[in-house]
Amino acid sequence: MGSNLTRHRLPLPPEDVQAGAFARRQALMPMWGAQPIAAADWPATWQSRQSVLPAAGSLAYIHIPFCANHCVFCGFYRNGWLESQASLFVERLIAELAHEAVSRPAGGRIDAVYFGGGTPTLLPPADLAKLIAATRRYLPLAEQCEITIEGRLDARSAELVAACTEAGATRFSFGVQTFATALRRRLGRKHDGEQVAGYLRSLRGQTDATLVVDLMFGLPGQDEFSLLDDLAIATTLGMDGLDLYAFNAYPGLPMLRMIEKKALDPLPGLPEQALHYALAVNTLRDAGWQQLSNSHFASGCREQNRYNALIKAGRDCLAFGAGAGGKLGGVSYQVQSDLATYLATPATEKPLSHMALQSPQHALIGQLQGALDQGELDTNLLANQPGLLARLAEWQEQSLLRLANGKASLTTAGRFWGPTITRELVMLATSATTTPTSAGASQ
Ligand SMILES: C[S@@+](CC[C@H](N)C(=O)[O-])C[C@H]1O[C@@H](n2cnc3c(N)ncnc32)[C@H](O)[C@@H]1O
Ligand code: SF4
Repeated sequence: MGSNLTRHRLPLPPEDVQAGAFARRQALMPMWGAQPIAAADWPATWQSRQSVLPAAGSLAYIHIPFCANHCVFCGFYRNGWLESQASLFVERLIAELAHEAVSRPAGGRIDAVYFGGGTPTLLPPADLAKLIAATRRYLPLAEQCEITIEGRLDARSAELVAACTEAGATRFSFGVQTFATALRRRLGRKHDGEQVAGYLRSLRGQTDATLVVDLMFGLPGQDEFSLLDDLAIATTLGMDGLDLYAFNAYPGLPMLRMIEKKALDPLPGLPEQALHYALAVNTLRDAGWQQLSNSHFASGCREQNRYNALIKAGRDCLAFGAGAGGKLGGVSYQVQSDLATYLATPATEKPLSHMALQSPQHALIGQLQGALDQGELDTNLLANQPGLLARLAEWQEQSLLRLANGKASLTTAGRFWGPTITRELVMLATSATTTPTSAGASQ
């Protein structure tokens, strides 16, 4: 990959890298502007939502909260793997889907389903196939519904992908993070880079389903050569999609303690991260990949990234499984994440742990978030807000975006800062008074 670095001669142009544009990367909280609903009112609110039919473009999210181990970089770990709990969980989840199907009138349309985690691929293939069949039976899925299974690669992947595609899954998203074996080991990943690449290569030979891999940048000690090596490997494996996530230092991550104790290298700073992102974007573009969002790339036309695009655009999403979050008809909710409480809740009750009224401006927030994530905003959305248009003009001066023909198009530098720009724009557009610390999550 040295040749790619030479081709993208340093320094890169201003529209590719603006490392000092903001003090830090900070995203909008997922339910920003929502008003909590008192627990006493949850049953009646839930009941009233059951008559709301999910409109075309709606989603379903199914959370499988088990992991083989706690990877030190990850903020999504909840429960270790215990086979007996997992089989009870699958039954409870099917009961949750079945109960909601009888509570809701027939109709509506769901265009994408996402089995996320945790690690859905930890479940035995027959259980996952049973769950996919249950979603098809109990949810109003569109004929061409995208059904994604997220997970990790291992020796069972071939069997699992075969069982899931047979049951109706159309897309698989595998967390790779990096192919660099030494770094993988430090992150808590069991397989070496060659093994993981081998699993992907043989899956590509086996299935026509959409295959996606997650890679990360900004990891401890990761330099541009290591990241570009990862891209060189990923782009030769016949993948359809690729996520490129900036490491987000959620407070309390085990990795941060390890860095403090010098058991891991320091994290790359913002200037390195901004440079690495720009090199990666240019490399993927040169290799013929299309950028579908700030963090997602596609090769060919099989990959649509439908779930991620619609969820960013604020579409309604039915949620199932311990720890899942959903929203329907202006109300957001959280399914109970404590596994024992979730399992003990009678099948005739929705196991809820939080409900809130979405911001009255949630439709505008969704439009802004969705558009900026795809890199292009229709400035008519802000037509009556001169302050905001002035802010866009400042960002144009900083090479973060280009204004032309009623559109604001993010540059590569602007896409790196996409979460921060979105957060500021949404807060300004909704005349927010919330302080930055309570409105944002560090990115
Ligand atoms: C919900 S996780 C599930 C991944 C899957 N269980 C695995 O082990 O690869 C989905 C993706 O989130 C990303 N991710 C996890 N922790 C992250 C962090 N701290 N910052 C940025 N992205 C992160 C990883 O790329 C991961 O593949
Ligand atoms: S990366 Fe995956 S397996 Fe590892 S802790 Fe996070 S969700 Fe669990």
